[in-house]
Amino acid sequence: MAAFAPFALRQDQARVDVLPRHRTRSVVEQPSAGPLLQVDGVTLEYATGDRVVRATHRVSLDVHRGDRLVLLGASGCGKSSLLKAIAGFVEPREGEIRLDGRAIHGPGPDRIVVFQEFDQLPPWKTVLANVMFPLLAAKRCSKVEARQRALDALAKVRLAEFADAYPHTLSGGMKQRVAIARALAMQPRVLLMDEPFAALDALTRRQMQEELLALWEDIGFTLLFVTHSIEEALVVGNRVVVLSPRPARVRAELNAHDFDLHGMGSPAFQAQAQRIHRLLFEGEAIAS
Ligand SMILES: Nc1ncnc2c1ncn2[C@@H]1O[C@H](COP(=O)(O)OP(=O)(O)OP(=O)(O)O)[C@@H](O)[C@H]1O
Ligand SMILES: [Mg+2]
Repeated sequence: MAAFAPFALRQDQARVDVLPRHRTRSVVEQPSAGPLLQVDGVTLEYATGDRVVRATHRVSLDVHRGDRLVLLGASGCGKSSLLKAIAGFVEPREGEIRLDGRAIHGPGPDRIVVFQEFDQLPPWKTVLANVMFPLLAAKRCSKVEARQRALDALAKVRLAEFADAYPHTLSGGMKQRVAIARALAMQPRVLLMDEPFAALDALTRRQMQEELLALWEDIGFTLLFVTHSIEEALVVGNRVVVLSPRPARVRAELNAHDFDLHGMGSPAFQAQAQRIHRLLFEGEAIAS
C-alpha cells in the first residue's frame, strides 16, 4: 500500500538544503549519492469487508541522507499508513518505495520506527534489555557488543543510569527516549518517527524536540518524522511535505531550515505557519 514519490529536483539542491546554516554536521555522505529513500507514486489501500479505504493517492517524495523530512497532514489523512509502508509493513497498491534504489518489500533493520505509544517497550525487560533486544534479534552483533552499543545509545539520550530500570518506573518522556535509543542503537539508514511526542505534555514535548535536534547534530542520522502539528513540523524538519486530507496527496513541499525552537515567535515563523495552515485547510496549492 502506502508510499512516497520523488520531487523532481534535488541532488544538488538537496545537498545544500540538508545543511541549515547553523547546523553543519557530518550529516551528508557522498555528494554524488542519489536519494536515500524514494517514494514513487505510492497509493495505499485497506480492504475492510466490502469497502476499500484509500489512505494515500500517488504520493511521491525523496528523502536524502541527513534530511529531517516531516510529513504533515490532518488527522486520518494517511500519514501513519505511509510510514508503515516505508517501514515495510504495508505493500503499496500502486507505486514503489526504494531504499538506495532497491524496492522495499518488507521490514528491515535499515528502517526503524519510533511510535507515539508509551507501551512500545516490553514491560518485562529492563531498559538496557529493551535497547539490546533488536540488536540481538537482528543478529547484528555479539551480546557484548550489543550491550556496549545499547549503553552508548542510552548515554546519548541521558538515560545511562536507568539501564536497569523497568519501563513502568519511567515517565512518558523517558520511555520515548528509550524508544529513540533503541532505534538509534540499530543505526538504521532512516529513522522513522510517527508522532513520537504527541502524547507528552507541552513542556516535555518541546524538550524532546530540542533533544532530537541535538542528537541529529551529534550523530547525523536521516529522519522521517510524522506530525499533525504545524509548529512541530517547522521546528523539527529541514523540509516539510504538506499532505492533503485523505487520501493523502502531496500538496506542497516547504523549506524549514531557518526555524528552530528559539525562533518560534518570529514573524517569519508565523508567516510560514500561516502559509502551511492555508495549505492544510484551504487547499491552496503552491510550488515550494
Ligand atoms: N488497518 C487498517 N484497516 C483499515 N483502515 C485503516 C487501517 N489503518 C488505517 N486505516 C484507515 O486509513 C486512513 C488513514 O489512516 P492513518 O492512520 O494512516 O492516518 P493518520 O494520518 O496517521 O491519522 P492520525 O493523525 O490520526 O494518526 C484512515 O481512514 C484509517 O481509518
Ligand atoms: Mg497516525
